Amino acid sequence: MTKFKTDFLILGSGVAGLTTAIKLAKSFQEKKVLIVTKSSKNESNTKYAQGGVAAVWSPTDNFESHIKDTLKAGDYLNDKTVVTKVVEEAPSCMQELMDWGAEFDRDKNGNLNLGKEGGHSANRIIHHKDITGFEIEKTLLEQVAFLDNIEVLPYHFAIDLITDHHIKSKKKDSTKLSCYGAYVLNQKTNKIDTYLAAKTILATGGIGQVYASSTNPRIATGDGVAMAYRAKAKIVEMEFVQFHPTALFEPGESPAFLISEAVRGFGAYLRNKKGERFMLAVDERAELASRDIVARAIDNELNKSGERCVYLDCRHLDKDAFVHHFPNINEKCLQLGIRFEKDLIPVVPACHYLCGGVVVDSNGNTTIQNLLACGECSRTGLHGANRLASNSLLEGLVYARNIVKGILENGNELSSKKEDIPEWNEDGTIVPEELVLISHNINTVQSIMSDLVAIVRSNDRLQMALDHLNYIYQDTEKLYEKSKLSPQLCELRNLNAVAYLIVKQSIERKENKGAYYNLDLV
Ligand code: FAD
Ligand code: SIN
Repeated sequence: MTKFKTDFLILGSGVAGLTTAIKLAKSFQEKKVLIVTKSSKNESNTKYAQGGVAAVWSPTDNFESHIKDTLKAGDYLNDKTVVTKVVEEAPSCMQELMDWGAEFDRDKNGNLNLGKEGGHSANRIIHHKDITGFEIEKTLLEQVAFLDNIEVLPYHFAIDLITDHHIKSKKKDSTKLSCYGAYVLNQKTNKIDTYLAAKTILATGGIGQVYASSTNPRIATGDGVAMAYRAKAKIVEMEFVQFHPTALFEPGESPAFLISEAVRGFGAYLRNKKGERFMLAVDERAELASRDIVARAIDNELNKSGERCVYLDCRHLDKDAFVHHFPNINEKCLQLGIRFEKDLIPVVPACHYLCGGVVVDSNGNTTIQNLLACGECSRTGLHGANRLASNSLLEGLVYARNIVKGILENGNELSSKKEDIPEWNEDGTIVPEELVLISHNINTVQSIMSDLVAIVRSNDRLQMALDHLNYIYQDTEKLYEKSKLSPQLCELRNLNAVAYLIVKQSIERKENKGAYYNLDLV
């Protein structure tokens, strides 16, 4: 076990972690930025983002319209000041990404080709074919590689934040809680090391894996939210889990492959088994209503018909233009023998995005001193009860800037603390022999959430979920106490904590809003 010291410790290497690292490294050239990430450098939700980034770019579009669309999609639970700031910063964030080398699709005149997605009243989605996230992640990692004061540690799993709770000498009634870094499991040495930092930034992404079917990759186990919860940071709006309406229907495949909303923006229709365009009767925007509305309408269709999927109809679309725009989606369909110009594409909703999370102020500060959060794990107030499509990568880009601005304004706080931090103690623990105890409980959490806490909820379902999760909590804690830690065991513990927060905050919600729909509140 070793103690390491850095100025800035960033947990996660998606758009939020990498952009924050780049901005910090450039603004504080004499300081060290360390990125700890639990898988390979580029593995993240960011890497799989398809549709793009929303930004007012066309001369016929305007900020007011993007703000209005964001508020409407969020069912007006958004913080309007935050929405305005993010929308107004979007064009310059995108320009900066392009200055760093990111390439986005352009028309034959060299102008950016702007796509459309659900809930947007204008074409404003800047994209790189249907692999926008891959392009952004690549560009950011290239920038990181240029900067000598950033170090990235892949396969390093953050287990817990270090706070006053870990310091025995600290009086319990002392002022606001502080964060001093994190305990990190080096997956090559299997040692848990202590990383001390003046500022720790959570950028650990989403929670999709808490559900059996999700568009999110395996890393999305809500670790940051769970760590912040254990550290007693404020966490809100966990009930607003967004389901993407159109994941490819491929039972048993995890993660679920996404069929981008940009495909509907390009003109695709949704049809049920009988061939009916059922969205026409649901919302005047039909297939381009916001995600909560479309996902609920599909859920309703499936419940009525007993079918397992609905269909995307792309047969009327221009074939060459479709292939040009969506090469990755076309390729995936072909692998399954689906030819979009002839066949319907079977789709079903899947867990996609967490709108709530760790509460941050306009500079990314959490309620714990020296702990900041950025990206999907944070709750900034931008999304309200339901995120507008393609506003997430944008949030990460804007809040990376805000974080650096905030630290610059309070730069004198950057001295490392000389607290007496204990090293991780694993005396008396053993390597668990039966990994099935962990995998079974992970599967059980996912089943509970998918069966009882999905698109449509009810008071009875939520109570049953809470009781079942409580049982798994007891079981997991017993295992945790006596076991040498592994990423799988930590992920089980984190998934269970996140599931608990979603259920508890669902029970506390007394009005249906955006992505939250409880039959007993109708
Ligand atoms: P991530 O990109 O998920 O990065 C989190 C990082 O934290 C990862 O590197 C992970 O390994 C690391 N990590 C997690 N836990 C730990 C731990 N315990 N220790 C160390 N490291 C850890 N949004 C849009 O705006 N536009 C889109 O077109 C779009 N398309 C999407 C398509 C798909 C299929 C998916 C899944 C999401 C999409 N989203 C899109 C949402 C968007 O991609 C994410 O919200 C965004 O990328 C989140 O960025 P992030 O940096 O917060 O988290
Ligand atoms: C998509 O391409 O449909 C995903 C866009 C998003 O999640 O914002």
